[in-house]
Amino acid sequence: MKHFKRHLITSALPYANGPIHIGHLAGVYIPSDIYTRYLRLRNKEVIHICGSDEHGVPITIKARQEGLTPQEIVDRYHAMNKESFEKFGITFDIYSRTSAKIHHETSTEFFRKLHDKGEFIEKNIEQYYDEEAQQFLSDRYITGTCPHCNSESAYGDQCESCGTSLNQTDLVNPRSSITGSKPVMKKTKHWFLPLDKHESFLKKWILEENKHWKGNVYGQCKSWLDLGLQPRAVSRDLSWGVPIPLDNAKGKVMYVWFDAPIGYISATKELTPDWEKYWKSGDTRLIHFIGKDNIVFHCIIFPAMLKSEGTFILPDNVPANEFLNLEGNKISTSRNWAVWLHEFLEDFPGKQDVLRYVLCANMPETKDNDFTWKDFQSRNNNELVAILGNFVNRTIVLTHKYFEGKVPALEKPGETDLEIIEQIPLIRNRTGENLEQFRFRDALREAMSLARLGNKYLADTEPWKIFKSDPGRVKTILNISLQITAALSVITDPFLPFTASRLRKFLNTGEIGWEQAGEKEILKPGHKVNPPELLFEKIEDDQIAEQFSKLMKNKESSEQKESGAQPPKENINYEEFAKLDIRTATVLKAERIAKTKKLMKLSVTTGVDTRTVVAGIAEHFNPENVEGKKVAILINLEPRKIRGVESQGMILMAEDSAGKLVFVSPVETISDGSVIK
Ligand code: 2FM
Ligand code: ZN
Repeated sequence: MKHFKRHLITSALPYANGPIHIGHLAGVYIPSDIYTRYLRLRNKEVIHICGSDEHGVPITIKARQEGLTPQEIVDRYHAMNKESFEKFGITFDIYSRTSAKIHHETSTEFFRKLHDKGEFIEKNIEQYYDEEAQQFLSDRYITGTCPHCNSESAYGDQCESCGTSLNQTDLVNPRSSITGSKPVMKKTKHWFLPLDKHESFLKKWILEENKHWKGNVYGQCKSWLDLGLQPRAVSRDLSWGVPIPLDNAKGKVMYVWFDAPIGYISATKELTPDWEKYWKSGDTRLIHFIGKDNIVFHCIIFPAMLKSEGTFILPDNVPANEFLNLEGNKISTSRNWAVWLHEFLEDFPGKQDVLRYVLCANMPETKDNDFTWKDFQSRNNNELVAILGNFVNRTIVLTHKYFEGKVPALEKPGETDLEIIEQIPLIRNRTGENLEQFRFRDALREAMSLARLGNKYLADTEPWKIFKSDPGRVKTILNISLQITAALSVITDPFLPFTASRLRKFLNTGEIGWEQAGEKEILKPGHKVNPPELLFEKIEDDQIAEQFSKLMKNKESSEQKESGAQPPKENINYEEFAKLDIRTATVLKAERIAKTKKLMKLSVTTGVDTRTVVAGIAEHFNPENVEGKKVAILINLEPRKIRGVESQGMILMAEDSAGKLVFVSPVETISDGSVIK
C-alpha cells in the first residue's frame, strides 16, 4: 500500500437548481463526511471540498420557467443548500460555487492549456436548432421518444425512464423544449476530448491498477471501457456557462461536465494558497465521493482531462454509491417524491443525527436501497433510544446516584469485566477498518455493537440491585460503563456528530482522539461528569403517518401538474361570463418593448377597430412569427398602462404546466370581429 501524507476528499458538487434531499445525503455527503471526520479524529491532514454546480442546461430551463435569470436561480439554491449541509453537520472545508470568478479563471486556464497542447479535436457537426427561438438545442433542450423504451419524455442526452445515455439524433420525433417546435439540423463547430486516445491508459489504470475499487464502480468502468471510448464534445452552444476562451468560439461555453469537476480544483485554490500541494504531489490521496450516475465522469472523463493537462494527480479511489429509493419508488425532484432536508428540519427539529443514522444504516453501498418512514421510526425507537440512549442514560444517572457524579475506581475487576474492557479497542479497530474500506453500514453496526455490549453488561450485572451489598463491585461496573461511554463519544462521532458532542458534554471532556478511545482508562477516577439529558426521544406513530400522508399529497399534486391540469377555479354565474367580450382578430404588427425581457407591443385589428395590446410573450416568440397570427382577444378589459404603453385588451393564450405558451387561435377563415361566446 502506498504511503500518503495527506487526503484530499471531494464530494460531488450538487446542481444549484433544487434543494437537497435524502438521496443526495445517503449517496454522497453522509459517507464523505463520515470518512473525513474519521480521518480528522485520527489526526490526519485532510481537506474536504464541495460547492454548487451552477452551469448546465437544466438550470437555464428552470430559470426560463420561473421568469428569472440563471444567476438568480443558482443564488437561491446555493444559499439554501449550503445551509442545509451546515445544519446536518456536513463539514466541508469550503463550499464554493462554479459561477465564482476563481472557477471561471481556473477552468479557462485549464481549457486553454489543453487546447494549446493539441489535446482537443475541432469538428464541425450538425446539431438540432430551434428556428423560432434561434438557438441550438443541446442536452435537455431537446426531448423526444426514446428508441429503447419508447418513453416520450427522453432527453437529448439521456432517457430517464430506462437510463440509457443518448445522442440527440437517437431520439424519435425530436422536439425543442423551448418552443415545442420541430428542430432543424444546422452546422456548428465544437471541441472534443478524444477519449479513444486515452483508452489504453485508462484500461491499464482502472482495470489493472485499481482492482481494489468497489465492485459497482469497477464494473461500470469496465463496461464503458469494453464498449470502446468515443471522442466527447466539451463545448456547447449556450450563453450560460464558462465561455470557450478562443476567438472562433463566440456564443459557446464549456460543457457543464467539463467545468464542474475543475470546480474541485478552483474551490481548493479558493481555500488555500497551498492548493498545489493537494493537487500536484504524489503523496496526496485524492478520493471522490459521488453517486453512481457520476461514475463515468469521475473515473474516465475527468481523469482523461487531468492526464491531458499533465500536472495533476489522479484519484486513488472513487467509492461511488448506488441510489436510495423512497418508499419503494425512485426519488424524483420533478414529481416531488423526496424527503427534502429543509422540510425534515422543520418537521423534526434537532433530529439530524437520527436521519444521519438511518441513512448510514441503509446506505446504498452495493445496490439500490429503500428509505421508509417505518424503518426510520423503528431504528430510532429500537436502536438509538433503546440501546445507545438507554445505556448512556443509565450509566450517567447511576454515577450520580451512587458516586456524586464522580468516576469510581476500577476495583478488582473479574474475568467478565476484563473481557468487556478488552472489547473496547477491538470494536474501535473494527469500526475503523470498515471505514477504511468504505463499508459504512458495517462500520456503524460495529460502533453500535459497543453500545449493545454496554447495555447487555448493565442488564447482566444489575448494579442497581447490588449497591447495598457490594458497592465495590458497582464501582467497577460503572467505571467500565463510563469508559465505554467515553469510547462511544469517539467512535460514534463520525456518524452522529451532534450526539457525540453531547456525550462529551455529559462526560465533561474535550475532544478525545481515535487513539485514546482504545486506551484503558479514558476517564480517570475522580473525574466529575455532568448530569445527563435525554439523548434520543421516541418517535410516535402519528408523526410517521403525517410524513407518509405528506408524501402522498405531494404525489397527487404533482400528478395533476404532470397532466398539465391545474385545479379548477371557483364557479362564476352566466351573467359574469356574458360580460366578457371576446373577438377574433389578427395581429398586424409586433415589436419587442425596449428594456424588457417579456413584453411585446402588438397592433391588432379586431374587426371593430385597430388597437394596441401589450402581451407578455417576448420570451416565447419572435415578432416576425407573431405578425399575421389569427388570435382571440378580450376587448372590453379596462385599458391599462404597461411600461408607458396603453394596452387595450388581452390576447388569449394557453400555458402548460412547463410554462410553454401558445396562442388560442381561431381558424384562419373566420373574419375579424366575430364574437366568441
Ligand atoms: O450529478 C450532479 O449532481 C453533478 N452536479 C455532480 C457534479 S460533480 C463534479 F464534477 F462537480
Ligand atoms: Zn428509454
